Amino acid sequence: MNKLKNDLLLRALKGETVERPPVWMMRQAGRYLPEYMVLRRKYDFFTRVQTPELACEITLQPIDIVGSDAAILFCDILVIPQALGLEVQMVANKGPFLPVTTTTQADIDRLTVEGAEDQLEYVYDAINLTKKELNGRVPLIGFAGAPFTLLCYMVEGQGSKAFNTAKQFCFAQPELAHQLLDKITTATIAYLRRQVEAGADCIQVFDSWSGLLSESDFKIFAEPYLLKIANALSPSVPVILFPKGSWYALENLSNSSASALGVDWCVNPKLARSLTQNRITLQGNFDPNHLLKPIADIKREVHQMIDAFGKDRYIVNLGHGILPNIPVSHAKAFVDAVKSYPNR
Ligand code: CP3
Repeated sequence: MNKLKNDLLLRALKGETVERPPVWMMRQAGRYLPEYMVLRRKYDFFTRVQTPELACEITLQPIDIVGSDAAILFCDILVIPQALGLEVQMVANKGPFLPVTTTTQADIDRLTVEGAEDQLEYVYDAINLTKKELNGRVPLIGFAGAPFTLLCYMVEGQGSKAFNTAKQFCFAQPELAHQLLDKITTATIAYLRRQVEAGADCIQVFDSWSGLLSESDFKIFAEPYLLKIANALSPSVPVILFPKGSWYALENLSNSSASALGVDWCVNPKLARSLTQNRITLQGNFDPNHLLKPIADIKREVHQMIDAFGKDRYIVNLGHGILPNIPVSHAKAFVDAVKSYPNR
């Protein structure tokens, strides 16, 4: 394997002292980039995901264009439901749609966990190719959706603001919910192990909807499965857990085998640090909407954010994915502000 020329991310994940923190952006490969839009007009979403040459090209775009310190593979969390046997469509202006939802014992029994990871060879091929093309410039992050977040889509069948149907399924039929979460977890662990074998340097697990749960429900339906995934992968590869909105989970998860925790903008950096002490690296938490502010403000706010988190055991990121209407120059200003730290 190529030695990394820029290993800031991996050093921050180990808790080593760094000159400056590393920076990348969730959803950095996406619709704010004109170069992505060219490919988006030519190929449909799952063609882009399933064609290693396209996935590789899209993954590299933000490295070349905005200069992130890490690449994240262009793929989607919904490839696991697909590998378990479900149809997933990406509907224009609407997002994911699963025509058949998973809500009964028979639905769960139909999901094929055995060999599910073998359905996703195109992901491992994309990782292989991307590692080659990166040639050690920056590390490559692999990822998956957390079991609770995938349950949300599998039960609800589409995106939602509150995922009431999915939550009601958990509370009314907890036994079925745990069977489903178990199946997703088993498939996800096998899938992530294959990503690591293919060359992923680090793994992020996106629990995008865990913040819809109360603390006690999080402990039942989200945390055990996040911990199972982290324990299965660590220490062979560093794992970043991103339980979006679940600030109450930080203290407990900071005692887990994960290397880092993602935080959104609703958590004050000082509070996040006091909940986790200096036990774990934190990642986040710039409000993506602040990227519409003037560039001078972005730079000042990024420096203030680094001061608040502290430069060590810290990965600069947004608090959630970058939005399609952000000018590329502002995304680049965000990254450049980190690179110029501590010089104001
Ligand atoms: O971060 C990256 O640059 C890597 C690529 C990536 C995508 N999806 C590509 C994508 C990652 C890490 C994801 C994860 C993902 N997918 C999550 C977790 C992160 C989060 O945002 O909370 C979730 C919940 C999904 C499910 C999903 N995929 C939704 C809800 C949508 C539609 C909404 C949207 O943002 O467009 C997608 C489609 C999707 N996945 C796009 C991209 C670039 C947009 C497709 C397009 O229009 O080109």
